[in-house]
Amino acid sequence: MGKIIVLIGAPGAGKGTQARLLEERRGIPQISTGDMFREMKNADTPLAREVQAIMAEGKLVSDELTFQVVKDRTSREEKSYVLDGFPRTAIQAEMLEILAAEQNKKIQAIEVDIPSAELVKRLTGRRSCATCGEIYNIYLKPPKKDNVCDFHPETQLTHRADDNKQIVVTRLATYQIQTEPLLSYYERTGRLKKVSGEGDLESIYWEINKLI
Ligand code: AP5
Ligand code: MG
Repeated sequence: MGKIIVLIGAPGAGKGTQARLLEERRGIPQISTGDMFREMKNADTPLAREVQAIMAEGKLVSDELTFQVVKDRTSREEKSYVLDGFPRTAIQAEMLEILAAEQNKKIQAIEVDIPSAELVKRLTGRRSCATCGEIYNIYLKPPKKDNVCDFHPETQLTHRADDNKQIVVTRLATYQIQTEPLLSYYERTGRLKKVSGEGDLESIYWEINKLI
């Protein structure tokens, strides 16, 4: 028995940053559909090319494929885990109910809330380490040395292809239309908690930590 902790928030809200801290400090695995799709798109298969094209436009991968990936990845988790970026549609939320029942786990949703004005800076300034996945921001959380990871000085930081201004606008709209309605669904069913995604990483972490 364990919990499925669902982090919901706009692109750039800090889901990945906080999920990584929960994994590092509390040993609760971070399961990020975005990260899994980014790994997949490096493969040279028709499916991988399709995923790459969808992500490049800032749209959503199909519910069926996304659910398959989540189901496969979570099947080996006996204890609690964090879902970062899933569910993102009403259908995915329904699929998760079935999965949670099969895995005998309770769902707890946490909204990471942030005003959209802040998001463009967070996304266009984001850089990450291809070796360990550490997330930086050239404006808000710079690495110690320009463009290299603090833990892997041999690795140049990368900039996500979907983190340019034009695609960010589509990603935000996709979030507002498809994902935001899930907040009222979890609220109605008494499973939603909310934290502010503004402020320093540590205080946000402690807020989330208190809730789970
Ligand atoms: P995904 O990778 O999930 O992207 P996203 O939801 O757009 O979220 P981000 O990863 O951009 O933001 P984040 O909240 O993790 O923020 P982060 O911690 O990095 O999905 C990518 C794509 O995959 C989708 O567009 C879609 O195509 C596909 N996909 C994924 N899941 C899917 C699904 N379920 N169904 C269908 N398709 C799916 O932080 C952002 C920046 O801010 C960083 O630079 C960080 O350093 C900085 N920062 C974070 N917190 C703070 C803080 N408190 N103060 C200052 N800076 C901060
Ligand atoms: Mg992320």
